[in-house]
Amino acid sequence: MNRRTALKVAAVAALSTTMASAYDKKLVVNTMDIKLKDPANPTKGEQKHSPEIKLGSKDAKGYTVVEVNIGQAGIIHPSTANHWIYEIELFADGKKVSTVSLEPEISRGYLATRVNLTNVKTLSAVSRCNLHGNYTASINV
Ligand SMILES: [Fe+2]
Repeated sequence: MNRRTALKVAAVAALSTTMASAYDKKLVVNTMDIKLKDPANPTKGEQKHSPEIKLGSKDAKGYTVVEVNIGQAGIIHPSTANHWIYEIELFADGKKVSTVSLEPEISRGYLATRVNLTNVKTLSAVSRCNLHGNYTASINV
């Protein structure tokens, strides 16, 4: 094996190791979109899964900090080996802004990014729980 081939083998081995550390997709057993029964009075379970979107400061280039926590009213969704938020997506007026993929236990349901909110009317976030499905929340900006 020459040096070039050895480097290729090492690169493929490193990539395989990285991919092997991702969560087991079989643990995602619920991909249904969940509608809140009474959006004005969410249950604790609904609050635990619903994104909470908060705006922070704007930088010199006009990008505003957007934070998404799962869930609301101080109720934090758990992150255990078999139950966690595996993905959060953020949309501005329906257009994708950011996606975060999360691992069980080591991370929990949180996304932060900077967004140019010029002409944006609504921010929406989707929280995906491996056991309880997909919850959406929106704010007007
Ligand atoms: Fe859950």
